[in-house]
Amino acid sequence: MVQHILTASQFKDRELLGEIFSRANYFQEIHLLPKNDQVRKDARKKIRETLDDQSVGIFFYEPSTRTGSSFQRAVHNLGGEVIKSENAGQFSSAIKGESIEDSIKTMEKYAEIIILRHPEIGSASRAAAVSQVPIINAGDGAGEHPTQALLDLYTIQREIGTFDNLKIALVGDLLNGRTIHSLTQLLEVAQNTELFLVAPDPLQLPEKYRKMLQAKNIKFRETDSLAEVLPHADVVYMTRIQKERFGTDTALYEQVKNSFILGPEEVNKMQKDAILMHPLPRVNEISPEVDKLPQARYFDQVENGVYIRMSLLEHLAQAATT
Ligand code: NCD
Repeated sequence: MVQHILTASQFKDRELLGEIFSRANYFQEIHLLPKNDQVRKDARKKIRETLDDQSVGIFFYEPSTRTGSSFQRAVHNLGGEVIKSENAGQFSSAIKGESIEDSIKTMEKYAEIIILRHPEIGSASRAAAVSQVPIINAGDGAGEHPTQALLDLYTIQREIGTFDNLKIALVGDLLNGRTIHSLTQLLEVAQNTELFLVAPDPLQLPEKYRKMLQAKNIKFRETDSLAEVLPHADVVYMTRIQKERFGTDTALYEQVKNSFILGPEEVNKMQKDAILMHPLPRVNEISPEVDKLPQARYFDQVENGVYIRMSLLEHLAQAATT
């Protein structure tokens, strides 16, 4: 059982992953039943007991639309209460100079689980080191975003039927993209994966993750040409160039910001049953006309996020009682 959720590497176990996915799938099936269905009503009542009388702290020092809202929805569906400190960098005591450790030691007095998003790599581990309650890493700077990787892999399994034997193109800012760092590690669980790492040279996957792929004998190829890999990939996973991670190097950002732009013409070069994913938010890397094409799955990812997060919260709540 998992105590804190800090890195995607905690989920490389097929059995654990199977349990998390199967509960997410159950929550999704129940939710999709007609609203007045008695089975749905009974099941949801039972599901709401999971976090009955418990509070979950959502402590975000960085902006978020999906991660924060989907966790909030997940907590609500499980019958828990949300305590929110959004814009924590601006409105919490952090602005007065409070350390993350002290903020966590405070929050744990109000909440049974803490979900943390913070601009520094390693912040979630620092929080976990002092916390008496489970910490969920909802993004630590350019480090990791494990719950996103879990919903990404869950989406691949739902949409393709398996996450084994796939050719997956990871595209965009592989250097700074925390969803990429987590997904790359999680993919170790899959069999016979082939990766296309598509990025402009300065934004290629960090050495640490390339070494890890080599150690696990996962085949990968680095390229800056998206056109070259589009017809071969089963999954194309686009990402935004992470402007906020470039610091003062605006010249480099200007140079790479339009590296990849997918319009309908490019998407038509993909295989008919291939899928196009994106953790969102997008800037200009996928044009809105692509949304109606059959390959587009990024809004399914958004929906799947709620069920995966319900499953993870349930897992932590159960771990706390055993
Ligand atoms: C991502 C993030 O915050 O890392 N968004 C998300 O959580 N869905 C991706 C991004 O910001 O580009």
